[in-house]
Amino acid sequence: MTFIVFEGIDGVGKTTQINLLQDRLTAAGLRVLVTREPGGTRLGEIIRGVLLNPVHSEMAPETESLLYVAARAQFVREVVRPALADGMVVLSDRYADSTLAYQGYGRRLDVARLGEINGLATGDLHPALTVLLDLPVEAALARTGAKERDRLEQETGAFYQRVRDGYLALAGANPEQYLVLDAVTPPEELAAVIWERVGGMLHPVQ
Ligand code: TYD
Repeated sequence: MTFIVFEGIDGVGKTTQINLLQDRLTAAGLRVLVTREPGGTRLGEIIRGVLLNPVHSEMAPETESLLYVAARAQFVREVVRPALADGMVVLSDRYADSTLAYQGYGRRLDVARLGEINGLATGDLHPALTVLLDLPVEAALARTGAKERDRLEQETGAFYQRVRDGYLALAGANPEQYLVLDAVTPPEELAAVIWERVGGMLHPVQ
């Protein structure tokens, strides 16, 4: 039915907002699928294991990109499209923009070329809305601080700064597609703003 994606650097609070939106959508009588890449696909889980394992320190940025995109191809076909076809609202924690932000801006690969392979992987399935939760890098990293870090999370603050700036550049280039929110705002307030926007999309002029 509708595809909504949450993006942002690690630690901005995407999971909390996805859960709050899910509650509101469900209360409004909609069927909701909450998911995240690779969404439980068998092949995607195998790929994710390779991507996040700190032992693969030699992984080239190009390899990393193609693996994320490969997992996405499977995710779209096995999870997202069937749920949309079944009339569900799909909320995804990350999607194609993560590759543009992390591998494009973060790893400094060509963003336009990554966009092309994303298009191949997704069959050009774009979300109806992308909620970008934005937070200064130090604040976001502080929130992720306690847990054990995966391969990506071992990156430096400079990397995350490029990723953050990358997300803001993507949103700035296509403002109608994004709802950009300051993730310092208390979670309930953020949830209210997101609900206002999503509610407007689901019930156009009444
Ligand atoms: P994710 O499983 O969403 O972890 P987290 O809960 O920490 O956000 O993503 C794992 C890491 O993979 C995260 O650091 C972001 C990164 N990533 C990319 O670099 N490129 C991508 O295309 C995706 C989907 C994720």
